[in-house]
Amino acid sequence: MLHKRSRESLSMKWIIPILFFICSITYMYNYYKYVCKSNYDYPFQDPTLPIDIRLDNLMSLLTPEEKIDMLWMGATTADGELPNLSVPRLNIRGYSWMGQGYVYRSASNGCNINCYSSVIDGNVSVLPQGTGIASTWNKNLIFQSGIMISDESMAIQYNYKNKSIDYKTGASSVINIARDPRWGRVPETYGECPILTGEIAVAFNKGIMGYAKLEDTELEYGIYKVIPVMRHFVDYDGPDDGRFSFNAIISDNDLRTTYLPVWKKLIDEKAIVGVMSSISAVNGIPSAANKYLLNDVLRNEWNFTGYVISDCDPMGDIQKSFHYTATLEQAVAISVSSGNDINCGEEFKFLHKAISYGFVNFDTINLAIRRGLHSRFLSGNLDPIGTDPYSSIPYSIVDSIEHKLLTKQIVSESIVLLQNPKQILPFNLTKIKQIAVIGPSSNDITVQAHTYHGTPSKWITTLDGIQSIASKYNINVVHTWGASRKNTSDEDFQHAIELYNESDIILFVGGLDESFEEEDTDRNTLQLPGGQLELIKLLMKLNKPFAILIISGSPISEPYIINENSAALLWISYFGQSGDAIADILFGLSIPSGCLPFTIPIDTSQLLPIDDYSMNKSPGRTYRYLDYFKAPPLFPFGYGLTYSKFKMNSKLNIYPNKINNLDTDIVANINIINQGPFPAQFVTQLYYEFPNSTVIELPIRELLQFNKTLFKINEQKTISFTFRIRNIPYSNRQQIPGIINLWIGNSRDKYAQSTLIIDFDS
Ligand SMILES: *[C@@H]1O[C@H](CO)[C@@H](O)[C@H](O)[C@H]1NC(C)=O
Ligand SMILES: *[C@@H]1O[C@H](CO)[C@@H](O)[C@H](O)[C@H]1NC(C)=O
Ligand SMILES: *[C@@H]1O[C@H](CO)[C@@H](O)[C@H](O)[C@H]1NC(C)=O
Ligand SMILES: *[C@@H]1O[C@H](CO)[C@@H](O)[C@H](O)[C@H]1NC(C)=O
Ligand SMILES: *[C@@H]1O[C@H](CO)[C@@H](O)[C@H](O)[C@H]1NC(C)=O
Ligand SMILES: *[C@@H]1O[C@H](CO)[C@@H](O)[C@H](O)[C@H]1NC(C)=O
Ligand SMILES: *[C@@H]1O[C@H](CO)[C@@H](O)[C@H](O)[C@H]1NC(C)=O
Ligand SMILES: *[C@@H]1O[C@H](CO)[C@@H](O)[C@H](O)[C@H]1NC(C)=O
Ligand SMILES: *[C@@H]1O[C@H](CO)[C@@H](O)[C@H](O)[C@H]1NC(C)=O
Repeated sequence: MLHKRSRESLSMKWIIPILFFICSITYMYNYYKYVCKSNYDYPFQDPTLPIDIRLDNLMSLLTPEEKIDMLWMGATTADGELPNLSVPRLNIRGYSWMGQGYVYRSASNGCNINCYSSVIDGNVSVLPQGTGIASTWNKNLIFQSGIMISDESMAIQYNYKNKSIDYKTGASSVINIARDPRWGRVPETYGECPILTGEIAVAFNKGIMGYAKLEDTELEYGIYKVIPVMRHFVDYDGPDDGRFSFNAIISDNDLRTTYLPVWKKLIDEKAIVGVMSSISAVNGIPSAANKYLLNDVLRNEWNFTGYVISDCDPMGDIQKSFHYTATLEQAVAISVSSGNDINCGEEFKFLHKAISYGFVNFDTINLAIRRGLHSRFLSGNLDPIGTDPYSSIPYSIVDSIEHKLLTKQIVSESIVLLQNPKQILPFNLTKIKQIAVIGPSSNDITVQAHTYHGTPSKWITTLDGIQSIASKYNINVVHTWGASRKNTSDEDFQHAIELYNESDIILFVGGLDESFEEEDTDRNTLQLPGGQLELIKLLMKLNKPFAILIISGSPISEPYIINENSAALLWISYFGQSGDAIADILFGLSIPSGCLPFTIPIDTSQLLPIDDYSMNKSPGRTYRYLDYFKAPPLFPFGYGLTYSKFKMNSKLNIYPNKINNLDTDIVANINIINQGPFPAQFVTQLYYEFPNSTVIELPIRELLQFNKTLFKINEQKTISFTFRIRNIPYSNRQQIPGIINLWIGNSRDKYAQSTLIIDFDS
């Protein structure tokens, strides 16, 4: 044994130097080739080489100090918008790990103008806020909007002479689950359903990242068009007031069934690059230092290969607010060791000291910077100037007619018709002589955007939109603000009533604005603020055709309005630039097709305290856990009417309807007919529930798939869904064999239903 081993080590003794020699020669040859023959000074600059080789080369060239200083960036000051990541001696340009200047938030097209005083990069297309994006339930449309926004980003990046920030990355959607309607950041979310949120986020990101088609699995040109940074991993769902020191207590079950699935889906669909760690603490551990979430789940369990960046305050809070470490040096050390690679903020400059104190070793720094640089290579940002395939997008597409039309379409599809007694809507253009447009939000551009947003060349208010249609049909428009969102004054009530009394029809436009629901600001009621409801009550008495439009980012609940003899009721999120889309809907020039992305409870008595994160504690949170008998909602998740009459024209067919294998492909289909009188889009929603489940922590019901499609008058279509029980997130935790109920409708109303039996003995 001994003899054999020494012979082995003898040959090993030679193999290593020989290999080393060969490698050195190869390396020197390649290096020589670069220095003497290539157009590039260093291999990392050569886009024809594999990224791993380029990355190794760049890592060997950067000094330890440079590596550390590439891991942090400012984002809150105007100058900080320009990241401090350039390395002039290697000709590496500036770069931002998260272009705060182009805050997608799904919505608003970045705070690229007048957001910080020195950041003025022109006009852009401004979309609805998050809940409005989700209420379209239209994946293809949202994919198109992602393309539109990234086209505008790249057009500005490469053509706007005085560009003040970097557009190759952007803070993207808030995909946190809207588990409580009072949370101030609900408007930025895609609502309360992990399935809808996941589908919409994938569609939006794939548009931004450079996929040619939604169903594609490879990037069109092999590089990222724009890198979206998704927020906030993972539990940050209110309260917002006190968020920098809030500790969310969450069961592992709720984490797995409610908060993590959206992120997993984005990774599975290759629709995520940057992840922003969260703000609050989870079960006592600050999110930017949460090794379990960042390293164990995100990386080791899901194989995420992008980078993690902190938000712009929480790094210091690890020490200051949470007292999780005694010093800032320990805080940054524990953060980077836990898998938080990059710091939005300046705290990571303390990594220099943290290393010298031995709090963190340099391998950890190398790993963090490698992850960041790997994504940066994939975005083409370290390729030679002029080689980005997206640099040829002309500036003329920014705020173009095509983009205005697409934006208008998105606004139109985001509108949700909640009640339409006596077919009050659409207003019949040929019968009207005068319309009264009343309400504090009817001609106020502050209700069209929410927190970070761009500026369009023109904000079209609801009143503007109505006036422009009315002028074509010789309809007179009268207008007054009527009531305030902020005070209960009745000083304009009489004027409003008089205008209504002399008109044929009336529209009231009210709701909230961002001062009621935004960062650091939660609500404690779901009611209309100020004098709005009082005025609505007076107007209702006049008994003429009356429509109410509520503009808010999250649920407004006024049960008083909900009755057969009252007004038509519509909801829209902060809708961006296109109030003309609303006018089209009111007059029937387009047909409502949006559905609620959240439950509208009757009142706050149906809600647990906002800081209680339990999903299934009675009466249950969100449509997935809510006991509809104990706490019937005013409107359920998925609810939305249209002007046309749709009928289920067949039963819900399930093939096969009995399985003995969870991997069997199952097809669910139903025939639906549009009985008129309008061509209209219909959102077919397929839900499931396990009626025999004894596992109480699991959702009662959940959306499985959905389809939105246009039906001509009298057209019938078979809508078909294919799925496997294995892919239902909780199937493996159910007591199977068992029964699964499936239905078409919304989360409450079952238009057609069927049963699937799982029986392993059959
Ligand atoms: C980066 O920022 C640091 C700290 O503010 C500053 O000392 C340094 O000069 C900056 N480097 C560049 C290249 O701007
Ligand atoms: C270019 O940007 C700088 C800084 O943002 C600003 O001071 C300057 O006025 C701008 N120039 C033009 C022509 O807009
Ligand atoms: C992650 O990668 C490992 C090793 O390649 C693989 O076994 C595992 O299935 C992957 N996990 C996921 C969720 O893709
Ligand atoms: C509008 O009113 C006119 C005149 O009464 C009628 O002919 C027309 O059918 C109505 N349009 C709709 C869409 O109801
Ligand atoms: C932005 O739009 C305004 C009109 O609202 C126009 O005056 C201005 O020139 C536009 N700016 C750019 C850069 O196109
Ligand atoms: C109430 O708000 C309205 C609209 O903002 C304002 O015009 C009015 O002066 C306010 N009235 C009082 C009494 O504060
Ligand atoms: C409505 O107008 C009629 C006359 O056109 C008038 O008699 C009535 O008092 C008015 N009602 C209100 C509430 O202003
Ligand atoms: C499953 O639930 C249904 C009703 O929801 C009931 O009729 C049936 O007996 C239950 N089956 C089992 C195996 O518990
Ligand atoms: C919805 O269903 C229709 C009819 O089967 C189909 O043509 C369309 O592609 C589907 N849309 C989506 C987004 O799946």
